[in-house]
Amino acid sequence: MINRNKQITINYRLTDNSLNHKIDYFQDKYGLNLVPANSVSAQANWPLLRVTKQNLILEHQRDNLFFHPSMALLRMINLKRGIKDRFLQATGLRSGDIFLDATMGLASDALIAAWSVGQEGKVIALEASVLLHFLVSEGLASFKELKPAKIKGTDKLAAWEELAEAADRIETVCTDHYAFLRKLPACSVDVIYFDPMFRDTLADTSPSIKPLQNLSVPEPLKVETVKEACRVARRRVVLKERNGSGEFKRLGFRLLDGGKYSSVSFGVIDTWPGGNS
Ligand SMILES: C[S@@+](CC[C@H](N)C(=O)[O-])C[C@H]1O[C@@H](n2cnc3c(N)ncnc32)[C@H](O)[C@@H]1O
Repeated sequence: MINRNKQITINYRLTDNSLNHKIDYFQDKYGLNLVPANSVSAQANWPLLRVTKQNLILEHQRDNLFFHPSMALLRMINLKRGIKDRFLQATGLRSGDIFLDATMGLASDALIAAWSVGQEGKVIALEASVLLHFLVSEGLASFKELKPAKIKGTDKLAAWEELAEAADRIETVCTDHYAFLRKLPACSVDVIYFDPMFRDTLADTSPSIKPLQNLSVPEPLKVETVKEACRVARRRVVLKERNGSGEFKRLGFRLLDGGKYSSVSFGVIDTWPGGNS
């Protein structure tokens, strides 16, 4: 598991020498130590970053991880077709809101939130894993150039454009969410969201979960963190967890109805006396 160590050393390989300038930029901006994969100091057990003109691919423990907004795109297409999104229902986001995503991961939820809060709103997305923060921040920054050729059809194109515009509104921070929340003034954001790694997927070896799992911080959400979130959120704190998870009860969240056919549930703590209305 690669997570909170601030100075992380990885190997890198460029597909084109014209990309060399990116290495200095990544080292400065993300505090990474990048060593050419063909140098004497490279180590075979370090993750390998492949830098291509289109994207960044991190190879680690025989898995490949790269930023891909595919899940968010599917949700965005559904939203534009009038299909409700359970995350948006649970968070109750409104135009102009400040939304704090305390567990960014691959930023699917952060992208949908950024679309929902609109141009007047703001999304701050926290990620404790240095490498995930790096990959996803760079992915969001180059979203507009990522457009895959196979995106055809007006609704898909429109959904892509909206997400690309929303990506600009996400500010990412590499930090532990508890440390970050402790520094925020009371009632300074509207909604705070937690989507921690599921307790029971830690043993999951499915190909879709594994690459994210290897790089992410797997710790359970702490009671003190939820308490801090309740102090900082003006309106609501939201938790996503596996259906039937004991985490809702342990952390004091009220379970929302819905998602009969889904494997996940949402719980909320309303911090405004009138609830989310
Ligand atoms: C299940 S993923 C979130 C997925 C995300 N909602 C999405 O839409 O892609 C959980 C993420 O939270 C991160 N995380 C876990 N503990 C954290 C902490 N204390 N502070 C910040 N991020 C944390 C993990 O590294 C992981 O990337």
